[in-house]
Amino acid sequence: MTIWQDLIAKSEAVKSRKIAEMFDNDNRAASFTRDSGPFMFDFSKTNIDAETLDLLVKLAADRNVQARAEAMFTGAKINETEGRAVLHTALRNLGGSVVVDGQDVMPEVRATYDRMVAFSRDVREGRFVGQGGAITDVVNIGLGGSDLGPAMATPALAPYHDGPRCHFVSNVDGAHIHDTLKGLNPETTLVIVASKTFTTIETMTNAETAKRWMAEKVAQPAAQFVAVSTAADKTAAFGIAAERVFGFADWVGGRYSMWGPIGLSLMLAIGPEDFADFLHGAAEMDAHFRTTDYAENLPVLLALVGIWHNQFCGYATRAVLPYEQRLSRLPAYLQQLEMESNGKRVSMDGKDLEFHSGPVVWGEPGTNGQHAFYQLIHQGTRVIPCEFMLGAEGHEPDLAHQHMLLMANCLAQSEALMRGRSLAEATEIMRKKGLEGAELERQARHRVFPGSRPSTTLLYPKLTPEVLGGIVALYEHRVFVEGVILGINSFDQWGVELGKELALALSPVLEGQSAGADKDGSTRQLVARIQTLRG
Ligand code: F6P
Repeated sequence: MTIWQDLIAKSEAVKSRKIAEMFDNDNRAASFTRDSGPFMFDFSKTNIDAETLDLLVKLAADRNVQARAEAMFTGAKINETEGRAVLHTALRNLGGSVVVDGQDVMPEVRATYDRMVAFSRDVREGRFVGQGGAITDVVNIGLGGSDLGPAMATPALAPYHDGPRCHFVSNVDGAHIHDTLKGLNPETTLVIVASKTFTTIETMTNAETAKRWMAEKVAQPAAQFVAVSTAADKTAAFGIAAERVFGFADWVGGRYSMWGPIGLSLMLAIGPEDFADFLHGAAEMDAHFRTTDYAENLPVLLALVGIWHNQFCGYATRAVLPYEQRLSRLPAYLQQLEMESNGKRVSMDGKDLEFHSGPVVWGEPGTNGQHAFYQLIHQGTRVIPCEFMLGAEGHEPDLAHQHMLLMANCLAQSEALMRGRSLAEATEIMRKKGLEGAELERQARHRVFPGSRPSTTLLYPKLTPEVLGGIVALYEHRVFVEGVILGINSFDQWGVELGKELALALSPVLEGQSAGADKDGSTRQLVARIQTLRG
């Protein structure tokens, strides 16, 4: 039998076992918890036992995860469908050298980083000004990986903000840029056009809108624009001077790009020193991932727990639940990271996958989610593994009592999910309330929690720049390990192309310049109704 088949057999054998009962006979909590740097990762509230863990670790070894990771860190072209290296780790490990196509890429990485630092200082210290004086607001226009990273990390690190206010525009819906620019002063606003390709239609359309808005008040609007892109020719054509273009190479994938120039808005908000801490936290996680045995390795274990739940237990979705309001955009960020990376249907060699690919990822910060969708997590018919995240301290010492309540809620949820409430317990509670007979039975059944619902908890001291860097790097490597085990390319995203092509073809149809004869009946009907509604 292969390890994969062993794991299928194991999941069948243990599927009705109660997680809570696994705590009875051994030091389970400590045995299924690992520490690294500021992080404690507790996966004891899952159905994984010592034998399962052993098999999962063997699976990682069998799939050569470590060799593949080494290939990534050293610049091999592991993104095989695009013929590219995958080197976002080089953006946060600024020492040393990494060779791609016979050339050390690090001098260029360091030079760009130094330019980012110098520019951020110029803006923050008032040497780079707008027509109306010091820059008060920064508008980052980008999409997907050119938006979600800084849009997630900037509010996450709000206690560290001492630079201009940062705003993020991504949606081509004009409402987004309209509502963002409303109330801003063009004379003191800096616009960052963040697009790896500088062709993404949503971003370029919003950038043109921002330029027109700026031109109404500012004599030289392009002077208050910055570009972050790999396409120097296109940024020049847009009118942005070379000294305000921050480039990066094609070996930085969009959803892995916030460590470099795509993170410029974050650096402007928190300053180069805190940004360096953010990089440092990620670099520490890189070192841990690269050098630690599988059974002690946080990203590997997080990946193995994910694979166990998705591929072997058949749980199709995964909830990410940070008990940290400032991480409210983290679930969206992780959605792109996981689902754009591992939402594939063929393996690296182009053959159909024989198992399901990556899970559906979703979530909200606690405690908000508790009053919305936790009902289904506790009592719905599907099992949804939950990933809790929690800081032991907040940034508001005068509100420590609120933080206690937050932590109590987080711990209570994972406890409740595991323990559940039996029919006998529910019946007793309702009996004490005075119910009896058929009504007692009926009401008690509504109050039963099946329990044995798996969760993991990632605990850290406090959400600092360093910790945030570590969390994101942890999840990046987790997604990488999952991809290696599934044998897929986690670094391309061909699945977004068809919709883009069809949208381009549909614009002239909507505008009435083309009949759209090749469109299906439903699409033609929708176009016709839109045209009628718009008169
Ligand atoms: O949606 C596909 C995608 O290519 C993402 O991977 C990327 O992050 C996003 O579009 C934005 O691309 P760009 O930075 O080239 O504008």
